[in-house]
Order: sequence, then structure tokens, then C-alpha cells
Amino acid sequence: MKVGIIGLGAIASQHIKAISALKELRLHSGCRRNKEELNKFCREYGVKGFTDYKELLKDGVDIAVVALPHALHYKVGMEALNYGCHLVMEKPFAVTMEQCKNLYKKAKEKDLKIATSDSFYHLPKIKKAREIVKSGKLGKFISAAIINYKDYYFNPQRPKWFLQPEMAGGGELINVGVHRVAFIRSIIGSEEKTVKASVGFFEPGYKVEGNGLIFIGYGDGSAAVIEEIGYYKLHPELDKCFHFNFEKGVINLSRELSIIYKDGSIEYPKIPQEEVSGYLPHYKQLLTAIKEDRDPYPGAREGMMDVRIILAAYESAKTGKEIRLNTPKWELDID
Ligand SMILES: NC(=O)c1ccc[n+]([C@@H]2O[C@H](COP(=O)([O-])OP(=O)(O)OC[C@H]3O[C@@H](n4cnc5c(N)ncnc54)[C@H](OP(=O)(O)O)[C@@H]3O)[C@@H](O)[C@H]2O)c1
Repeated sequence: MKVGIIGLGAIASQHIKAISALKELRLHSGCRRNKEELNKFCREYGVKGFTDYKELLKDGVDIAVVALPHALHYKVGMEALNYGCHLVMEKPFAVTMEQCKNLYKKAKEKDLKIATSDSFYHLPKIKKAREIVKSGKLGKFISAAIINYKDYYFNPQRPKWFLQPEMAGGGELINVGVHRVAFIRSIIGSEEKTVKASVGFFEPGYKVEGNGLIFIGYGDGSAAVIEEIGYYKLHPELDKCFHFNFEKGVINLSRELSIIYKDGSIEYPKIPQEEVSGYLPHYKQLLTAIKEDRDPYPGAREGMMDVRIILAAYESAKTGKEIRLNTPKWELDID
């Protein structure tokens, strides 16, 4: 199958590694506006280049990869579906619920598949943790806490669009907090029911947030907390925190995966080796989904659920209210 990548920035190389590793796929074309950089890319990979994504789509690809600034995901993703392409969508899936739902529905209508590329879903230690939870040996989920210090989010090396709300759809939370939402759900498997959040704009001169605290409820007394801080990186004196508490023990992902049982004993489950690229599983998922006519994992549904939590967090922070996700504005309403 022919693959075209729309957006050839920092993350494109991860996609190329995965595409190159699969014999069913062939990198056919790429798109970016900067002609000089585009030519370099075409020479390096011996592929076609376009400065206009519509030309790439007209030229014909089976799979379009959307690796663009966030606000462009929807327009370009929809156009690619209209051209009959399956999609690999970078995170965040889109920047409004309506956009997410429209993409989902359009793909269903056209019988096309959408894979969302958030490498957290397939990290070997996360997959292993998911297996352990599914086996039921730790009992019911109780609570989780994730504290993530992002290296200075406002780093001047970061492409400017990330720091512009109209292009990025937000700041630290929609860009990197969305990974933590995926991380938690992919391990515990529960669907979120409520969201309460605070969001901070403490970096002078910027209109995107640099931190946030999100409280997610699952409706049965279990809950998760995500703390994202983007003003400095984790100091060695501070502890990283990725804890999942269950009835019979704790899954700790702060370092390597460990299980700390109620009696104090510790187990370090064996973790399979990393794939050649963290993105390989996404492409494998897409290929299998096309073959078996099912949704890839993670697909549009997961992409939408991840974005929903971040958008609900923004709204909760603005209104000071808890958001209930079973209300018309927030329901997935897609099947
Ligand atoms: N999953 C992950 O771990 C991960 C990590 C990093 C990024 N990402 C995601 O990947 C996406 C891209 O991020 P990035 O870091 O690669 O950003 P980036 O380095 O800024 O790359 C963006 C690309 O889009 C192109 N572009 C911008 N506007 C365009 C337009 N109107 N038409 C065509 N091309 C356009 C840019 O090239 P020109 O300026 O030449 O057009 C550039 O090649 C984002 O959604 C981001 O959140 C995911």
C-alpha cells in the first residue's frame, strides 16, 4: 500500500521507520510547504514531494499520515477520507469534539480505517501492565496518580505553532497531557465519567497553559489524578510518580514496571523488547484492521476519548465546575 506523509517535521522520522519496517507498506510521498526541506526529504527517501496536501491526495495514496499542527488535523484528515485514504492521525486526534465525531463518522461512512498514533498505547511496559490488570490478579482498580514534569514547555526551540492557541488548540495539556490520559485508560480499561481540573497560564507572554491538574472519576469511587507541569524538568530530588493502586497491590511505572503486593513483596515482570519504532504497532494495527475489517487500536474512538478529557478539563477550569461526560455535549454519540 502506498503511504503519503502530510507534515514532515520532528515526528515524521518515527512514521518513516515504522513504514520502512513493513513489507506491505511503501513510502510514496510527503508534503510540507518549505520547498528546500521538501526536496531534501524527497532525495533522501526517493519519493514524491508536494507543497500542497491536496496535490498529494490527488496523486493517490492508500494511507495518509497526518502529522501537522493540531488545528489542521481535522481539515486534512477529512479531505484524505474524502479521497478514500485510510488514516494514521497524530495526536491529538482533533481539537474539538465535533471534529472528532465527524472524522469518526466519515471513516465509518466510507468504510475506511483510522489509526491514532500515541505510542503510549503500545509501549512494552504499558502493554504488560495492561495484561496484568486484565488477568484480574490485582483485583479492582482503586486509584492512580501521574505526575509529569515536561522539560521547559516554552523552550524557544519548539516550533512556534505549539505555543499559539489557534494552531495548537491549547498548550501542555492538549499536546502532552493527552498521552497521560491514554496511558491511564490503556492500563485500567475503565471509561471516564467525570472530569474536574485546574489549568495554569504562569509563563509570561504566552496564551497557552503551562500546567494543569486533572481529576478523573470513574463513577464507582475509583479515580485518577494527572499533574502536568511544563515550567521546568523533573529534578533528581523530586520523585517521578506513575502509580496504579488495586485491591491487592500497586502497579508502579515510575521506573521499570514493578508490582508491589499488599504484603510488601515486589515482582518485576519480564518485559518484551521494544519494537524497531514505537510507531510500528500502530501501522501493524492499521494493516490488520483493514484486513479484518475492524477498528485499529488505538483508533478514532480512543483518539476522541483522549481529546475529550483534555477539552473537558479546559471547560472545567474555565467554569469551576465538574464535567459529567454522560451529558449531550460530551457523550461520544458515535455508534
Ligand atoms: N506521538 C508523539 O510522541 C508525538 C511527538 C511529537 C509530535 N507529535 C505530534 O505530531 C504532529 C506534528 O508535530 P511535530 O513535532 O512533527 O511538528 P513540526 O516539527 O512543527 O512539524 C510540522 C510539519 O507540518 C508542516 N506544516 C505546517 N503547516 C503546514 C501546512 N499548512 N501544510 C502542509 N504542511 C504544513 C511543517 O512543514 P512546513 O512548515 O514546511 O510546511 C512541518 O513539516 C503534532 O500533532 C504533534 O502533537 C506526536
